[in-house]
Amino acid sequence: MDAVVVFESMWGNTSAIAREIARGYGDGSAAMTTDQADADLVLGARLVVAGSPVHTLGLPTEVSRASAAAKDRPGTLAADTRHLPVREWLTHLPRGPRFYAAFETRIVGPLGHGAATAISRALTGAGYEQLDRPHSFTVTMRPHTETPGAMLLPGQEQHAFEWGIRLRRLLAEVG
Ligand SMILES: Cc1cc2nc3c(=O)[nH]c(=O)nc-3n(C[C@H](O)[C@H](O)[C@H](O)COP(=O)(O)O)c2cc1C
Repeated sequence: MDAVVVFESMWGNTSAIAREIARGYGDGSAAMTTDQADADLVLGARLVVAGSPVHTLGLPTEVSRASAAAKDRPGTLAADTRHLPVREWLTHLPRGPRFYAAFETRIVGPLGHGAATAISRALTGAGYEQLDRPHSFTVTMRPHTETPGAMLLPGQEQHAFEWGIRLRRLLAEVG
């Protein structure tokens, strides 16, 4: 596989963005959970795109994931905490050379952009080279909904699709 788009997602918003990035990238790309993106799969990829929600100004932690799960209410989506946190997935990566791009979903406003920065730092540390600057995609404050991905603000999926197209072009340019 050319490009793997890996995500952590409680209520389907980051995963919806990941799927649009992969769709924009086109053939040779797929969006997948951290469990699916094992070391063998990553080894075969030229580009790793990784994203997560911003939790408490950074990557989700055990505490923030538990707090997301505690928001579950009858009739609303349960937080999906079945998969390995991106924070932990980043520690099991095969070393580069390889390209990467990082993204995050977050609330509009001054509440921080820390997840994509932390992902970038870890991937640089693994010997991967940044293909494009980190991207943020925005959601409403509404913490949980009935439909996966319904917190995304208008235009965010289109923005993700277009970023996927751009990543393919940038990867072709670096040879
Ligand atoms: C425990 C917790 C902490 C959060 N902290 C922040 C934050 O510091 N900054 C921010 O912009 N959004 C914050 N959010 C909102 C998340 O970014 C939002 O729920 C997420 O983008 C939804 O994506 P998902 O459905 O893929 O999990 C927080 C959410 C939770 C559950």
